[in-house]
Amino acid sequence: MERMNRRSALKTLGALGCATGCLAGGLMTGAAPFAGPLAGPGEARAATGAAGTPAATAGRFAQQDAPFSWKPHVLDARLCAPVAYDGYWHQGYGCGYGVFYAIVGMMGEQHGAPYNQFPFSMLEVGKSGISDWGTICGALLGAASAFALFWGRKDRDPMVAELFRWYEQTAFPMHDPGAAFKGVAGALPTSVSHSPLCHVSVGRWCQASGFAEKSTERGERCARITADVAARAIAIMNARQAGTFAVAHGDPASVTYCGECHNPGKQSPLLKGKMDCTPCHSGSPHTADKFRNHP
Ligand code: HEC
Ligand code: HEC
Repeated sequence: MERMNRRSALKTLGALGCATGCLAGGLMTGAAPFAGPLAGPGEARAATGAAGTPAATAGRFAQQDAPFSWKPHVLDARLCAPVAYDGYWHQGYGCGYGVFYAIVGMMGEQHGAPYNQFPFSMLEVGKSGISDWGTICGALLGAASAFALFWGRKDRDPMVAELFRWYEQTAFPMHDPGAAFKGVAGALPTSVSHSPLCHVSVGRWCQASGFAEKSTERGERCARITADVAARAIAIMNARQAGTFAVAHGDPASVTYCGECHNPGKQSPLLKGKMDCTPCHSGSPHTADKFRNHP
């Protein structure tokens, strides 16, 4: 660790809220009593730099072994999908945790470190479209986050696109836990979301099935989708590792058609994102004006 020079030492004083000249005598003699809260005795200078003060900025964004350097392993989706389903129910951690654990957690169970060192509960944030906001489906967040441990955006973006398009276009749920069910047993109604958003995906399923959002059936449906997404993500990762990954789910007609005028360089270049435009811009009976004459 570079020794703290006078300039960075003064910045440190500023960062600690000292008035000009505060403890300067102690600093210049090397006693550094001000560093007490940041470091133990004898470590004052080095630890002050490492704690994020200006002396540490030389290493910023230069994390050891980054970026995207963990080595992926092939997984057995038949083994991992039920783990994703169980992970959904475990402590109520939900879909993001379930998918991520079924991928990275299972690598940890089979290959040890570094996979088993990951603080998996972090992915609980994906539950219900990120902390109950109904934005991105947490299962997709979990899968895309797992991809990102191994592949940078050049490789990852087509994998994410394939997974998300598949999700938009597939009738869910497919997984059947059989006797290992934790919510409700047996077949459930299915629906196609045409959207990667939790809000749209859940809303359409509730509308199609007649079950309320807070019903056990809806929870079971999302647990099964957690297994479905984990299996699909693993198939994509395995294919990527085998060198056989290919896009199977192309853009919907809306993205091509609307993009003709709203993509970059076109006459109305306002479009952000790749989602199917239809659920929100088709003027369907469900998205019509609900502020007047409603219901
Ligand atoms: C032939 C070109 C063209 C196509 C195709 C097209 N748009 Fe547009 N769109 C425009 C233009 C031009 C405007 C108005 C100018 C502006 O706001 O930049 C506009 C405006 C909009 C607006 C904002 C204003 C409004 O009327 O609501 C939305 C939203 C929009 N388009 C969505 C879509 C969607 C969704 C599709 C596909 C279903 C689509 N557009 C297809 C050219 C097009
Ligand atoms: C999840 C819902 C959703 C999806 C999916 C979606 N949009 Fe939008 N889009 C919106 C909303 C909401 C706005 C803001 C509308 C406003 O300004 O009142 C918007 C804004 C826009 C605008 C800017 C004009 C404006 O009115 O602000 C364009 C252009 C547009 N969308 C085109 C598209 C196209 C093309 C797609 C598909 C590739 C798409 N959108 C997908 C909900 C969506």
